[in-house]
Amino acid sequence: MDSLIVNSGRRLTGETAVQGSKNSSLPILAATVLVGGVCQIHNCPELTDTKAAIAILRHLGCKVKTGNNTVTVDSSTVSCYNIPDSLMREMRSSIVFLGSILGRTGKAELSAPGGCEIGLRPIDLHLSSLKVMGYKIEEDYGYIRCEKAKDNSSSVISLSFPSVGATENIILAAALSKGRTIIHNAAREPEIYDLVAFLNECGCKISFRMQGTVIIEGVKKLHGCRYSVMADRIVALTYMTGAAITGGDISLNGINTNHFRTVLPVFESAGCRIEDRKSFLRIRADKPLRAVRDIRTMPYPGFPTDAQAPIMAMLTVAQGTSVIIENIFESRFKHVSDLVRMGAKIKIEGKIALIDGVKELYGTTVTASDLRGGAALVVAGLAAKGSTVIGNVSHIDRGYEKIEESFKNLGADIKRVKH
Ligand code: UD1
Repeated sequence: MDSLIVNSGRRLTGETAVQGSKNSSLPILAATVLVGGVCQIHNCPELTDTKAAIAILRHLGCKVKTGNNTVTVDSSTVSCYNIPDSLMREMRSSIVFLGSILGRTGKAELSAPGGCEIGLRPIDLHLSSLKVMGYKIEEDYGYIRCEKAKDNSSSVISLSFPSVGATENIILAAALSKGRTIIHNAAREPEIYDLVAFLNECGCKISFRMQGTVIIEGVKKLHGCRYSVMADRIVALTYMTGAAITGGDISLNGINTNHFRTVLPVFESAGCRIEDRKSFLRIRADKPLRAVRDIRTMPYPGFPTDAQAPIMAMLTVAQGTSVIIENIFESRFKHVSDLVRMGAKIKIEGKIALIDGVKELYGTTVTASDLRGGAALVVAGLAAKGSTVIGNVSHIDRGYEKIEESFKNLGADIKRVKH
């Protein structure tokens, strides 16, 4: 498995574009199954999770071509409705294929994606919603079989929690159904809007109302389209934490700064200066960082759980005591033990992390235990005295396209060692 070696002493500076969003491109790739034609998806990040999605598409019978961050999917040849366990286990997002296979074929058979590094991640809301839509569901030995039992002309689903994955699965399963499906308390993440924009380009009729209501008017047929995936807001935030921890000055372009409304105040409270020009953002960290007292991860538009680990890395060297409350996933503090190995002072009490800023971190050997936790170790390594060696880089490669090149382009001293 590859390692990253990060040497400190460099401020991040310069301007960069941000890769396409993982959390948009994976559901969009799954959605191509519904189309029955050719879709060209541009700005797809080259990630191991993208490869896993392509492997599932090919297994289902789609013809897929890739190159230059474009994935072309011809789903006119879809020939099966099951996904084997080996492909399901490659990535958590494989569960979003459930909705698209059901939407296309009326039945699906796949294994439960199971727990993962950051928590249990149940799918009860996905399945109970599909039942409301008239699907019969059988679960045994970790396998799920779903089949359309009756054609509900109209379904109303009220989610008890605005689950991103459940919202995506309902939208996908409903897009080609008869009648209208309404979701109350749907997730409002920008990636949901990106998925819906893609589906509407293909001929779907999906609209948003206030307060997280989504209305899906089923249509009979879809057509292919060309679509460009939005920029990855979590990758952008990771670069920003890197700039902040190194006293840097970086500019990000091609992003939508509206997606950053609740996170920019956190950087400002920490003492960074932000210049926000809609699709362009500059962050300057020209003062010592200050602690931030109250960060709570919440569904969008709240502070994103995916940014919790990189922000924590940044706050390890902020003067004073910072407080982070992780409300979304129960095991999302796995990076803490490695940050502590690097000299950070962090205490965990249930879902609360108390971070006492230290003057300096120091480089040592650490291991990425999950995607964003791994990115947090890279951020910490940018400021830690000496060299930080990060193992298990495959976790990071699930979501960051050649992370060492992106940070090197911003001036970091970082390299990948292949084993
Ligand atoms: C979540 C994040 C998303 C992030 C992604 C990858 C939220 C709300 N969602 O999406 O922003 O990009 O992880 O890190 O922040 N839950 C249930 N039953 C279900 C589904 C979910 O209890 O059927 C619970 C989960 O255990 C979790 C919460 O709901 O506590 C959020 O889950 P959900 O939004 O579905 O997770 P993802 O789709 O993975």
